[in-house]
Amino acid sequence: MAEPKNTDLMEKVVSLCKRRGFIFQSSEIYGGINGFWDYGPLGAELKRNVKELWWTTMTRMRDDVAGLEATIIMHPQIWKASGHVDTFSDPMSTCRQCKKLVRADQVWEQLTENAWAQAVAELCPGGQVDVARLLGWAKSKGQRIAPNLALVRNPELTLSWLAERVQQNPAPLEMKELYQHLATEQLRQTGLVTPCPHCGGELTPPRPFNLMFKTHYGPVESEDNLCYLRPETAQAIFVQFKNVLETSRQRVPFGIAQMGKAFRNEVTPRNYTFRSREFEQMELEFFIKPDEVVEAQAGAIATVSAPGHPGEPQPNWGWQMWHKYWVEERIKFYEGIGLPRTTLEEYWQKPEELAHYARACVDILFKFPFGTQELEGIAARSDYDLSQHARCSGKPMGVFDEELRAAWIKLDQTKKDELWKRYFEARRKYLEKTGETIEKAAALAREDADGLAKGLYIPHVIEPSAGVDRLILGLITHAYSEVTETDAKGKSESRVIMRFHPRVAPIKVAVLPLLKNKPELVAKALAVRDLLRPHMNLFYDEAGSIGRRYARQDEAGTPYCVTIDFDTLGEKPELLDTVTIRHRGDTAEDNGRQERISINELLPWLLARVR
Ligand code: GAP
Repeated sequence: MAEPKNTDLMEKVVSLCKRRGFIFQSSEIYGGINGFWDYGPLGAELKRNVKELWWTTMTRMRDDVAGLEATIIMHPQIWKASGHVDTFSDPMSTCRQCKKLVRADQVWEQLTENAWAQAVAELCPGGQVDVARLLGWAKSKGQRIAPNLALVRNPELTLSWLAERVQQNPAPLEMKELYQHLATEQLRQTGLVTPCPHCGGELTPPRPFNLMFKTHYGPVESEDNLCYLRPETAQAIFVQFKNVLETSRQRVPFGIAQMGKAFRNEVTPRNYTFRSREFEQMELEFFIKPDEVVEAQAGAIATVSAPGHPGEPQPNWGWQMWHKYWVEERIKFYEGIGLPRTTLEEYWQKPEELAHYARACVDILFKFPFGTQELEGIAARSDYDLSQHARCSGKPMGVFDEELRAAWIKLDQTKKDELWKRYFEARRKYLEKTGETIEKAAALAREDADGLAKGLYIPHVIEPSAGVDRLILGLITHAYSEVTETDAKGKSESRVIMRFHPRVAPIKVAVLPLLKNKPELVAKALAVRDLLRPHMNLFYDEAGSIGRRYARQDEAGTPYCVTIDFDTLGEKPELLDTVTIRHRGDTAEDNGRQERISINELLPWLLARVR
């Protein structure tokens, strides 16, 4: 059954994002450009916080990860080697009538969101066909909202086929079959056809549509200087692997992290920023030893037995333990920025869904208002990427490992043979898939397997790959909440509170003098502002009633407000140089809770909570 969608919440979120300056449509004054979004003042801070936290967690807090910042445009052969030129495409159909492009694998999803399909579903609830109502609709409203549907163009003929079908089997139709019937005029010749979600028209057969944006470098636009905007940040990491290894004094297992823009010419960008044409990724390529190498050195590979986090990395971890480790680390990251486990799901891709080089892939899904969808993918990519770049560039991508060479000497012959054979088979399989002849693949694989005894191998990769914009959308939709309050006169009003985790909140604290026309209060508030400002993003506000100012900060998701009042100035001597901290809170009950704190303690108090 399709998951229920909370379109109401989504509409409110989109409206709030524009009203409060989280997200704007790109190029809005020119009518916008589909699939491109800008982040306003609050959105930019939120995004910056998220990226900073990812970078700190993934690189600075670890000894085994180094960072990289590569260019967006790279040598075009990189995309040939990675497979993007030949296979990075979506199946696309065009409507012969309205000319709109449709992703062939999303037709049904889109169809149920469109007005004509929803009208048909109302006319025939549960697939119970009502010929008379369909005919009436086809001659009235249908003409406007689905002019190219067979039912609208030729109602009598289309409905006669449908009536025949119902006569043969009076059970209610599956909605999908019903839509197909309503889109099919020439049933005997064509069989059931699939309608255009937009107008009901005829779709062309799907053809692959490459998602990479093309451009040219230099002044001449020709095939020779064609290049691409990167569709992922990962490939730069693979091609710089050797440089980073040599300059960072890292040894396998270690990772290279990068965040930055990626571009995909999505056929149908949708769900707000979820599927955009320009977006940001945060990717880690974590290089590990092949299992044969781990086994040679550690004697045996650790097995994944218990659920949950497997703990600190160990020398006997093969790819499965490392994969599990990174899935758990990433979930821990999301929990640490305010997305509880209950909002996330792990989806282990089925063998038939895996990319041909992947051994496993777990998608971390988030419960968005429009459905539970991918936030991040964590793939075990084998040694495919480094092997491809080694083959296509002619530059070796293998590493030398003295510990392996020493361990290999000590293995008995049976173990050597077993490990050699397994490594050989894996390499041979890869090489045959790249199109090498059976003989050449075997010869090259033999060379690779012989390398083990010399301490040589090509590292494998575990890749946690997250989308910044999807995470921002997840954080915004999760933070959104409404409270209804009744004033002294009995008037009720609803308002929005954005319950961001303090670590990601765009504004960490608002500094508010109780009254703006009291220079002593303002001077003290400005001093507090200047004390805090170098350490966190804050907002100084003296306009309007204190209640209105608190409400404005609730809507921006500010976790704390600091109010400077007459007690701060010593009206009650025991409260001299103290301020009120007003909590936004995580629940309706907690909203507005207050406590008093000395200005001396204010900075460490805040830093302990917002970092
Ligand atoms: N290097 C692996 C890779 O790029 P992917 O699953 O295609 O894998 C990784 O992308 C992440 O990038 C996704 O989980 C998603 O968060 C984000 N992403 C991919 N396409 C996107 C799009 N069109 N708009 C926004 N985010 C996108």
